[in-house]
Amino acid sequence: MQQQEPPADNDGKTWSGRFEEPVAELVKRYTASVDFDKRLAEFDIQGSLAHARMLQAVGVLSKSDVADIERGMAVILDEIRLKKFAWSIDLEDVHLNIEKRLTDLVGDAGKRLHTGRSRNDQVATDIRLYLRAAGDETLALIAAFQSRLLDLADQHVDTLMPGFTHLQVAQPVSFAHHLMAYYEMLGRDASRFSDCRKRLNQLPLGAGALAGTTFPIDRARVAKELGFDGICENSLDAVSDRDFAIEFCACAALIMTHLSRLSEELILWMNPRFGFIRLADRFCTGSSMMPQKKNPDVPELVRGKTGRINGHLVGLLTLMKGQPLAYNKDNQEDKEPLFDTVDTLATTLRIYAEMVGGITVDKTAMRRAAMEGYATATDLADYLVKKGVPFREAHEVVARAVRRAAEKGVDLAQLDLAELKQFSGLIEADVTEKLSLEGSLAARDHVGGTAPNQVRAAIARARARLAGR
Ligand code: ARG
Repeated sequence: MQQQEPPADNDGKTWSGRFEEPVAELVKRYTASVDFDKRLAEFDIQGSLAHARMLQAVGVLSKSDVADIERGMAVILDEIRLKKFAWSIDLEDVHLNIEKRLTDLVGDAGKRLHTGRSRNDQVATDIRLYLRAAGDETLALIAAFQSRLLDLADQHVDTLMPGFTHLQVAQPVSFAHHLMAYYEMLGRDASRFSDCRKRLNQLPLGAGALAGTTFPIDRARVAKELGFDGICENSLDAVSDRDFAIEFCACAALIMTHLSRLSEELILWMNPRFGFIRLADRFCTGSSMMPQKKNPDVPELVRGKTGRINGHLVGLLTLMKGQPLAYNKDNQEDKEPLFDTVDTLATTLRIYAEMVGGITVDKTAMRRAAMEGYATATDLADYLVKKGVPFREAHEVVARAVRRAAEKGVDLAQLDLAELKQFSGLIEADVTEKLSLEGSLAARDHVGGTAPNQVRAAIARARARLAGR
């Protein structure tokens, strides 16, 4: 029996040749991804051009075919940039939309483009190109934010605040030192994104649908043209795994988690009970009912959006975990969480860099708070240890002194020498300086400590590192 020709108008579908009826409308909408994957268009075109040029180099496409493809793609790129491109859900996804338009524009050459390629290796390539660009932008945004953090730290090396453990006053620290803790976290976040880039920047194209292709392709050439560091070694792996996207989301979840912690602190510090800082009005919002309110909506939203980003990470892990090799359509679901992760992180970093520049500090309130919780008790214990008292004993002695101060409703530094001497004869006049907030800070004078000269050096090192990145 002779095979039936596919209907002349097969819906523009490139794959419906063997279908006996058109795809149900509902299914068409359910399976289409063009509404969101059109964002990959420029990367898709880039990948197609590299593929076509390679096919010419190995003698599969003619020079004139490739010239046609290049001409058509230039038109398409313009149409997309000018938002004149007519995206059609009937054409399912970004790849088929572009291919169909190319064929409309240049004829047979457009139909030859897909030689030796599948949408499976095509989409894997597109996402990697997209994420590489997104990652590079993220790195620049982190650096810009870190630089603003350093500017703020610069102004507050000598600003005293209570350091907390268990959210109870623990020991005094420099506010700059506190800020520099976030600088460090962000530095690790940046290094995670850089590291992620290495595994991400490998070319899947050439894997075909899953097993490779019968054409004499030159994958290294395509990799070079697209700026990949190497090629995916295994075709099945190349089309199916999205670990690079999961890794990207993990990096994003971690940095958002750091920003969420900072947000929580800004919110606390803004509360009048703390009163440590003020955020510029342009980062706050009011209440529709309570006229007195000024709310820290931006940090609250960062904290909230962190939940969303963490959710995307778990979503992608779950998407992957049950998939047999090789490509499965499940993978189409990787894009929306990924795009949302990239967008949310970028706007969060942008807004944070601005917001940090708009923080004003109430040094008096910070200092007052540091005076409240016997923040220099450890300094008194260390003082006794340096005079030969074993630390555990010193701890006991100071605990008793703190109890006395608490009964009197004063700080340790406010007990006079005679009174302190009742707890240990070794306490002398030089204790006053040790019990002061400044004395306590200055005494932690080693790399990583909060002594102002150490913090100043840390900021200088950080600036140098940032400039070298
Ligand atoms: N839109 C698809 C995706 O995002 C492209 C690959 C489709 N491949 C296929 N054989 N259906 O994963």
